[in-house]
Amino acid sequence: MSTHWYDQQTIYQIYPKSFNDSNNDGVGDIAGITAKVPYLKQLGITTIWLNPIYQSPQVDNGYDVSDYYQVDPSLGTMAEVETLIKTVHDNGMYIIFDFVLNHTSDQHPWFKQAVADPHSKYRDYYLWQDPAADGGRPNNWGSFFGGSVWDKDPAGGSQYYFHLFDKRMPDLNWTNPAVQQAMRDVAEFWVEKGIDGLRLDAFIHLAKADFRQTYPSETGDQTPIISDMFYAHLPKVHQYLHDFVAAIKAKHPETYVVGEASSADPHLMVDYTKPGTDECNQVITFKTFADDNTHDDHSFSDMFQPRPMDVTTYKQHTVGIQAALADTSLPTLYWNNHDMARVATRYGDAAYPKESAKSLATLLYLQRGVPIIYYGEELGLTNIRYHDVADFEDQTVPEFVASAEAAGKTESETMAMLNATHKMAGRGPMQWDDTAYHGFSEHQPWKHGDTDAMNAQAEVADPTSVYNYYRQLLTLKRQPLFANGQFVMLGSDKALFTYLIDDDCDQAAVVCNLTEQTQTYTLPFAGDDVLLVQGGATFQERQVTLPAWSNIVISPAK
Ligand code: GLC
Repeated sequence: MSTHWYDQQTIYQIYPKSFNDSNNDGVGDIAGITAKVPYLKQLGITTIWLNPIYQSPQVDNGYDVSDYYQVDPSLGTMAEVETLIKTVHDNGMYIIFDFVLNHTSDQHPWFKQAVADPHSKYRDYYLWQDPAADGGRPNNWGSFFGGSVWDKDPAGGSQYYFHLFDKRMPDLNWTNPAVQQAMRDVAEFWVEKGIDGLRLDAFIHLAKADFRQTYPSETGDQTPIISDMFYAHLPKVHQYLHDFVAAIKAKHPETYVVGEASSADPHLMVDYTKPGTDECNQVITFKTFADDNTHDDHSFSDMFQPRPMDVTTYKQHTVGIQAALADTSLPTLYWNNHDMARVATRYGDAAYPKESAKSLATLLYLQRGVPIIYYGEELGLTNIRYHDVADFEDQTVPEFVASAEAAGKTESETMAMLNATHKMAGRGPMQWDDTAYHGFSEHQPWKHGDTDAMNAQAEVADPTSVYNYYRQLLTLKRQPLFANGQFVMLGSDKALFTYLIDDDCDQAAVVCNLTEQTQTYTLPFAGDDVLLVQGGATFQERQVTLPAWSNIVISPAK
């Protein structure tokens, strides 16, 4: 594999509305991000990924784009984006943008014209279908945001339009060459502005199957059901992806493309990232995670029930991805993003908050791959806890609440489950200091609730903080062994996560305790040089002793 800048990077994901509010209106903004570039550089970040900042009605916090060529006014101006890009580059860093290419907002002029005039060329920018024989929806395919993928023509015509997500986010018709060209133009506009790469949102859904097909169900009724086989990973996706990426890279070959391939297994990850095919450089799959559902309460919906990590299955997924990608591309290494609850809440240990945050980071980020750190994770930040069901802004939540209530759960029990598991609880404001709104804003933030006490100012000053441990860890990650080494899983039970990283000249063992109990472990070599340690882990020759949630990174004598 040849080496590019994007093979040696640490990405930091920023949810712009929640990072830093420079004009004190309660919503984070572009100028607020620019002000924090030095903080990110100090942490060891090389690349910033921004969730969408384009003009948007904010039905899905920016993933519903109404104008790809404008910045949403709540976030700032084009001049401020230009300043951000320049500041990032002046600091020797890179910046990538989220690129929403599967759908637009229903407020996008293309969709408005498609609705207003069925004969306009924009009609064919979207996916329309005649009703089924009984006059109802064309098929039973389900939307990821609940209900059907079909909604009636807003102008009152008989046809239905297709939306994989919210009904205010109609899917684009990628079979139409004009759509393909329009999206290439948008990408080129931003790459010309100076961004270094794109995170391709939901690209695995660009191709859809024949709409006349029904997903077979027991009863044969038309209740909508998620039908991935009709709209995820269809072969045509490769062609759309290739044509799009090749066009960008023809002019800007060093543009980094990381694709959100949420349901990709290791083989699909390989297919999307094969060198020389001009598809993705790397992909992000959700299929790494594994939760232990053996303690689920079956008396109500399982949708938002908190679960611990299923460590063994997680390890198996890790090995599967590492093995499949070893000769193809770099895995992306991440614990959380804006679509899930925060790792400190999901898998951290409230009795050992700092140690568990450090151990989880160590087990992941020294593996072969590119770390993606979600804002606030470097502080060990936990979920925000909302007081009101409406704060989750999610149409599947009322269904869950109703089912939990019917099973006798109290309101506070239900809220606790949602606050522990829901993606919106992972999107709270960044905590910069200990002032009223955590230094995020002087105004009540757009998302507010109860929070834990950690903040960046205190952690930067505290040598034992999670923040300073992340700095050390990322410094180590930049050493050639961890930047380029191969991953070798070592055997251990579910109390530990253990692996080797090696290259032609060096090796190191990473041993992490995932429990509150002291664990011991026998290294494959006599340890000599401790590269990183926390939580009181010690070693003697081959024997490592690890108190609660501690870890050690150690190499043999040369
Ligand atoms: C992706 C985004 C998610 C968004 C969806 C629709 O999965 O990560 O936040 O809701 O696409 O754009």
